[in-house]
Amino acid sequence: MNELVARDARAFFHQHGSSPCLGALRRAEGIWLEDTEGQRFIDLHGNTVHHLGHGNRELIAALKRQLDELAFAPRRFTNEPAVLLAEALLARWPGAPAKVLFATGGSDAIEIALKLARVATGRQDTISLEGSYHGHGFGAFGLSQAEPDPRLGDFLPGRHHVAPYWLEGGPERMLANMARVFARSPGIAAVIAEPMRSNCRVPPPGLWAQVRRLCDAHGALLIFDEIPSGLGKTGRFFAFEHFGAVPDAVVLGKSLGGGMVPIAAVIADARLNVAPELELGHYTHEKNPLTTRAALTTLEIIARDGLVERARDVGARLVAGVAEIAERVQAVVGARGLGLLLAVQFAPRCDAERVVEACFSEGLSTTTKGANAIGLSLPLTVTDAEADEVLARLEVVGRRF
Ligand SMILES: Cc1ncc(COP(=O)(O)O)c(C=O)c1O
Repeated sequence: MNELVARDARAFFHQHGSSPCLGALRRAEGIWLEDTEGQRFIDLHGNTVHHLGHGNRELIAALKRQLDELAFAPRRFTNEPAVLLAEALLARWPGAPAKVLFATGGSDAIEIALKLARVATGRQDTISLEGSYHGHGFGAFGLSQAEPDPRLGDFLPGRHHVAPYWLEGGPERMLANMARVFARSPGIAAVIAEPMRSNCRVPPPGLWAQVRRLCDAHGALLIFDEIPSGLGKTGRFFAFEHFGAVPDAVVLGKSLGGGMVPIAAVIADARLNVAPELELGHYTHEKNPLTTRAALTTLEIIARDGLVERARDVGARLVAGVAEIAERVQAVVGARGLGLLLAVQFAPRCDAERVVEACFSEGLSTTTKGANAIGLSLPLTVTDAEADEVLARLEVVGRRF
């Protein structure tokens, strides 16, 4: 075992998905990862933070300048990058006048959205989708996981989970379940969901508009978790812009920090600004000038370089490329998703874990996306030549099955 990985395994608590690690990195640049053994991988996962590619030089320069200028602001003081970021996010918001709050991670930002929903509606219950993921913390993880682990104890009360649109029975069953929960439970504060789950199952047209109507009819809020799918990844700035339903609140995270620093945000209808006496997300690094500078610069680069449109176009190139491979290679079925939030579907006989292993040996770092699919999530800065290189490697992987 690599020495750093062994030391990591000794030092860190072991937990699903992170420790022990697969390997150790010494460099990450653009679409590439390089491990301490000198092996290079194209990053098809990137934890969905790598919209700008890894190690974006312009962002690093902006962060260095910010460190020299103002590295921290104690909470009672504001600062320029924090205010500019808030204004820049609000300028993107297509709904009614809104306000923002920042946090250092997606899970914490989800907690803020939950608090806003509770204080605004005076209710406490939630509806979320089975098989969803909204982060950690007893609130956010409880939204994700229907069955509590007895060792962890109870989550927040009032959690209702409905079968998601991507499982058998599909959207009709999801809507019927939701309507039933609403009819039985007058205390629903909010429905919270990813508009497109990051398993890349695209919801049918009209689904979220119908959920919006249900929420309105029952006086509940609609909260979209766009922590992986926001900031252009799906070919629209907000993923919900594909689906004809504007939520009361959206949560952004991951790539908001440019793939370097941790920052997340809640943008929500200004009418939810009803509890100024409460601490809704009073985090130490809430308005950190470094994290907010990272997010502001990320937004500037996305707008200046047309990266939202780029995600749409290069995503279409990848989907078409995978379809061509599927004509030549039996094991490959096709690609699904939107923009650059994509998964490649393999034939039922291809176990996703084994496909991921085969990808690693072809220099592709990825994860499973269900039983027979793998993630194909590239930065929005990817070039056509790089996308073609990925397709060539995927074809080699497919031919092994
Ligand atoms: C949909 C979704 N929501 C919430 C989170 C939690 O974000 P964080 O890990 O920054 O707390 C994640 C992270 O993977 C996510 O994918």
